[in-house]
Amino acid sequence: MPFCDGVKLQEAYRRAQAERFAFMANNIAEPSILIGLLEAYAEARSDLLVQISPGAAKYAGGGDKRAGLRALSALVRELAEPYPIRVFINLDHFTADEMGLIEEAIDVRLVSSVMIDASREAFEENVRISRTVAEKAKGTGILIEAELGKIRGVEDEVASDEALYTDPDEAAEFVKRTGADLLAISVGTQHGVSKGRDLELRADLATKIRDRLVRAGIDAPLVLHGTSGLLPEQVREMIGYGICKLNKDTHYQYVFGRTACEFFAAHAEGIIPPAGVEDDVVNLFAKGDWSPDKKVFDPRVVGREIQAKVREIALVLIDQAGSGGKTLWVQKEGRR
Ligand code: G3H
Repeated sequence: MPFCDGVKLQEAYRRAQAERFAFMANNIAEPSILIGLLEAYAEARSDLLVQISPGAAKYAGGGDKRAGLRALSALVRELAEPYPIRVFINLDHFTADEMGLIEEAIDVRLVSSVMIDASREAFEENVRISRTVAEKAKGTGILIEAELGKIRGVEDEVASDEALYTDPDEAAEFVKRTGADLLAISVGTQHGVSKGRDLELRADLATKIRDRLVRAGIDAPLVLHGTSGLLPEQVREMIGYGICKLNKDTHYQYVFGRTACEFFAAHAEGIIPPAGVEDDVVNLFAKGDWSPDKKVFDPRVVGREIQAKVREIALVLIDQAGSGGKTLWVQKEGRR
C-alpha cells in the first residue's frame, strides 16, 4: 500500500510545514526515471511525490491522454508496492481543457492530488475554474493545488512569455474562494532550463504571501514550480520561507538525455555500422558480415544506466529538500 491518497499526503505536508522541510515533486513520463526515484527515495527514507503532466500522459498513451494517465498511474502504484515509503501521485498542470480527465481521475481515485492550472486566466476566471475542481474533490481525500501568478517559460503544454509575480494581497482571497489545499506561487522561478544565479527571485514575496495566509487563518502549503536550475542555497532559502513542494521536471529530463547520449556515444560502434558496410536495418544486417551488439543496443541496458544516474541525482535533491529520514510509512502499512 505505498501508494497513498491525499489524506496521507496532507499529513506529510503538515509535517514538512512543522519541521521546515519540503518535497521535491518529480515528473515522470516513462519507467526509468520512476525506478531511479523509487530507489533513491527508499534509500533516503523519504516519501515520494511523482507528477504526471498532460503531455506525459499523452506521450505514455501514444497520443491518448486518458490511456496514458491510467497506464502511468497504474505503473507508479504497481512499482511502488514493495518500497517501504509512502508514494503519492499528483496531476501536474492540468487545465480546464482536461476537465473530463480531472473528474475521472478524482472519481476513480487515480491520484493523491490534482494541480488545476488556470493561471493564464484573469483572477475571477482562475477562481471559478479552480473552485470547480476543488468542489469536485471535496470529501474524496484528494488534494487540490491551484496557481496564482504566472511562471515564465514552457512546461509541457503550458507556456508563458511573461512572469507575473503573485500578488500577496490576492493570495488569501484566492485560497478562500477556491477552497484549494495548496497554493502555487510565482516568485521568479522559470520553467525549462534556467540558471538560478540569473533569476530575480522574490523571496520577500513568499514571506508576505505566507504571512497573509496565516493572518487569514489559512495553512495551505506553498508550492514552487520551475525549480530545475535553482542553486542549493536558493532551495534552502525558499523552504525557509514556507515552500513545501518544489516541482522538478527539466532536471530529470536532462539526466535522462545526458546519460543516454554518453552511453550511446561510448558504444556507437556496436550500433552504427562502420563505413563501407551497407546500412541494412530492414534485414538487421543479415546479409553481411557485420552485426550490431545486443549488449549495447538493448534499451534495457541504457535504461539501467539512466535509472542509476537518476537515483544518484535524486539523492542529492532529497538532501536539498530535507525530506530524507522523514517518511511517514510504518510497517503495518504493509509490503508485498
Ligand atoms: O510542474 C513542473 C515544474 O514546474 C517544472 O519545472 O521545468 O523547472 O523542471 P522545471
